[in-house]
Amino acid sequence: MTSPTQSTVYIETYGCQMNVSDSELMLGKLEASGYRSVDAPESADVILVNTCAIREHAEQRVIGRLGEMKSKMKVGAVLGVTGCMAQRLGPQILERASHVSLVIGPDGYRSLPLLVENARRGARTSSTNFDLEEHYEDFTPRRFDKVKAWIPVQRGCDYRCTYCIVPTTRGPERSRKLDDVVRETRNIVDEGMSEVVLLGQTVNSYNDGTRDFADLLRAVGAVDGIRRLRFTSPHPNDFSDRVISAMAETDAVCEHVHLPMQSGSTRVLKRMLRRYTREKYFECVERLRSAIPRLSVTTDVIVGFPGETEEDFDETLSAVREVGFEDAFTFKFSLREGTPATRFPASETVSDETSSDRLARLIETVRAGVRDSNLRQLGQRREVLIEKEARRGGLLQGRTRDFKTVIVPGETTMIGSYATVELTGTTGSTFTGSFVRERASLPVAV
Ligand code: SAH
Ligand code: SF4
Ligand code: F3S
Repeated sequence: MTSPTQSTVYIETYGCQMNVSDSELMLGKLEASGYRSVDAPESADVILVNTCAIREHAEQRVIGRLGEMKSKMKVGAVLGVTGCMAQRLGPQILERASHVSLVIGPDGYRSLPLLVENARRGARTSSTNFDLEEHYEDFTPRRFDKVKAWIPVQRGCDYRCTYCIVPTTRGPERSRKLDDVVRETRNIVDEGMSEVVLLGQTVNSYNDGTRDFADLLRAVGAVDGIRRLRFTSPHPNDFSDRVISAMAETDAVCEHVHLPMQSGSTRVLKRMLRRYTREKYFECVERLRSAIPRLSVTTDVIVGFPGETEEDFDETLSAVREVGFEDAFTFKFSLREGTPATRFPASETVSDETSSDRLARLIETVRAGVRDSNLRQLGQRREVLIEKEARRGGLLQGRTRDFKTVIVPGETTMIGSYATVELTGTTGSTFTGSFVRERASLPVAV
């Protein structure tokens, strides 16, 4: 029930899926406290910007957006900053931006309704304590996506990759109890969804004290109604044989793994403190591929890490070719205050010009590989889950189990259903497809 006097909240999310999932929890919590969500900052009594700190550019975008909010806010509205940048900068945000009255880090969302009420009465608060017990178990997330659900299974990170701010912004690693994850999975099925994505910074190191990631995959995969099970992001060092077997033996686990490589040079990997070599990474991909036929592998790569030479970068290009990634997120290294990478001598800094040039060459190499692979797949049939309307009118967008995007013609009523599709064309990165008439039914609904 909505009433004209009901307070409204608008939330804007930056960063990774973990932040999206946290926004769902925050919105759920505020709705349970009587707020109604709106989709424009102008009409909100409470505006939350859930931020990312991973690269300088991500923070600049947020700072620009906070500036814009000043002119968009209603008189008397409160503006809060949450997430990783809130954790990193804490009270500094209050000092720098007088129109922000609330700063809350990722472990502080339990107090959100209280802190928002205080802010509406004029208080200005920063809350950035870590809470190693906090998994927001009693929150009911308000999910943004109607087709697939994000499930956080682990918070924080115990690795210390030298470039990375996440251990600072998210604190130590901790896992949710397996039973709690299974309960949430059941709720998701009850809400009508059949695909879940398990989230964690090094999700395959999941361990709730008695159960590991292999147990978790098997338990979630066994929930009646779960047809697709994905997870992101695993770390190459945490793919035990147990986990790989669980992937191979759990029907719902999709034939796709997003396995961040970061660099193809062992020398650079060592300086990144990734704790594996080029060869170990290849070996991990091989173990996965031999257990799971037709596995597609995507990755993250950073260029311009301090001290990266042309030879190191060539090794990254050759690794990209050798593995045959089906996609890659590619980044220019961004030096984050407080990370171990700040201790490399300034003489090792790779110039922005060189980084940009390497990034362009890397993107071209990735694209060429994906194009070749996609061309080879034309004419094949795939199960597609229709996810949403495509950007071009009258078309729908879906995904294969191996994470390829397919554009098909169809009605919006088909969103959320599965269909068999023949891959008929490719732009290089995505496919176009047509439904395959199977027996009498078209498409195959679940
Ligand atoms: N926990 C995940 C990654 C989280 S951050 C993992 O370990 O795989 C997502 C990606 O951002 C990273 O994989 C990395 O490629 C990139 N990234 C992280 N810190 C960065 C930095 N300082 N500069 C550029 N890219 C960075
Ligand atoms: Fe960052 Fe490394 Fe942890 Fe990933 S594993 S979140 S890159 S420190
Ligand atoms: Fe960004 Fe925090 Fe995610 S820094 S990438 S929102 S964990």
